[in-house]
Amino acid sequence: MNEPAKTALIDTVLDTSTDAAARPAARTVFIKTFGCQMNVYDSQRMADALAPLGYAQAQAPDDADLVLLNTCHIREKAAEKVYSEIGRLRRLRDRRRAGGAAMVIGVAGCVAQAEGAEIMSRAPAVDMVFGPQSYHRLPDLLARVADGERVVETEFPVEDKFDALPNAMPAALATRGPTAFLTVQEGCDKFCTFCVVPYTRGAEFSRPVAAILAEARRLVEAGVREITLLGQNVNAYHGEGPDGREWGLGRLLHALADVDRLDRLRYTTSHPRDMDDVLIAAHRDIPQLMPYLHLPVQSGSDAMLKAMNRRHTRELYFGIVEEIRAARPDIALSSDFIVGFPGESETDFADTVDLVARVGFAQAFSFKYSARPGTPAADIDDQVPEEARRERLTALQALLRTQQADFAASLVGKRLDVLFERDGRKPGQLVGRSPYLQPVVVEAPRALIGEIAPVTVTSAGPNSLFASLCQLADAHGRTRVAVPA
Ligand code: 5AD
Ligand code: SF4
Repeated sequence: MNEPAKTALIDTVLDTSTDAAARPAARTVFIKTFGCQMNVYDSQRMADALAPLGYAQAQAPDDADLVLLNTCHIREKAAEKVYSEIGRLRRLRDRRRAGGAAMVIGVAGCVAQAEGAEIMSRAPAVDMVFGPQSYHRLPDLLARVADGERVVETEFPVEDKFDALPNAMPAALATRGPTAFLTVQEGCDKFCTFCVVPYTRGAEFSRPVAAILAEARRLVEAGVREITLLGQNVNAYHGEGPDGREWGLGRLLHALADVDRLDRLRYTTSHPRDMDDVLIAAHRDIPQLMPYLHLPVQSGSDAMLKAMNRRHTRELYFGIVEEIRAARPDIALSSDFIVGFPGESETDFADTVDLVARVGFAQAFSFKYSARPGTPAADIDDQVPEEARRERLTALQALLRTQQADFAASLVGKRLDVLFERDGRKPGQLVGRSPYLQPVVVEAPRALIGEIAPVTVTSAGPNSLFASLCQLADAHGRTRVAVPA
């Protein structure tokens, strides 16, 4: 299966254009985002923090005054990409300097958090390195760079960065389309033995319900129709409710479902252990909650799950899948898998294949194990040879691809609601998302961008569905396409 959106390399150019009159002289920032959806969200919040300083959007790094790399440390390859990117930026900066202009280069995100000092010594072109908990301090960090300092900021400060980050300007929000991410939880206390997240993002933290509702309302006012709640362990959410008590994710979803014009809700990424009854029932009771659940299992072998410190068995996973399917029979399931974890035998791998065959996934992301310095699994002697890892990944991905294609094919001829997001590649085409998160390509008028309309699926490609707008009867019995009133 392809790299998932949440771990794929994503180039995000952020439009920070806001009310220019209130701001100092125009400067430009280019933010390049690697990794997961939380980094995409963080990049937008960094842009929001820079907007009051007069930073506007740059379309490319070439002519930007400030370039920020928002980095990912989850696997070795992801981290290595950062150093080659810094090399490219250094050459760009040298060219700009030759023309008398300056460029500040900053490294943010999880590589910055994990390798702060190392980046500074390995990459002299870098002016500032700062971790995910310091984004609200960006104006101060930039001022220190302007004073000639090379800044490293990788502390976990006591203040709440979400409180300190400025809200996005409505004009900036309006450029970001009808779907949005909203971080409700950050960090992880699970300590899976392969994973860097508890070290790079720190301990679990849940934002208060009131702050989340306020942010959701601002997004909806700017035209957002679908919000995906984000957290490294989102279903471990336990934020303070307006009643002063701790609310779980299920309760939070109910409160968000009451926000007018917020038509679709999703959440990611979840841990099987934290799928409680309220959350499972929410899939039955909240129509806005889309029938798609990303629930990483990592392995189908109990021995591997134990070595990974996953705190659940394959039976527990099967049990949750059964409960979720009872609550929402059409739910599309997605998962993450790691093959070649240290000590994984052919029998362990066969258990993973068996789990996949038994559950049936609509979507999945699978990776070769990558030893991450500082994690317990990196010190296990029994590392699986590269060739075996590669073979297992190929076999697993072939099975997952077949399941994904079967699921897509099962939708042909069916009617689905699509939220239209943007223009398609060909003139007259729009691209939207099905309730199951698949891209759907439809010939439709541009007025439908930002709207939900019914379509009939006509065919299924490897990565997207193709569909036609449903004909609707109007008040006079005449048919028309589904254009909103
Ligand atoms: N090696 C390979 N895959 C990893 N993941 C996390 N850490 C590693 C690692 N060290 C995968 C897991 C996780 C996804 C985001 O990335 O499957 O769910
Ligand atoms: Fe990493 Fe495990 Fe936490 Fe997920 S639950 S972020 S895999 S430590």
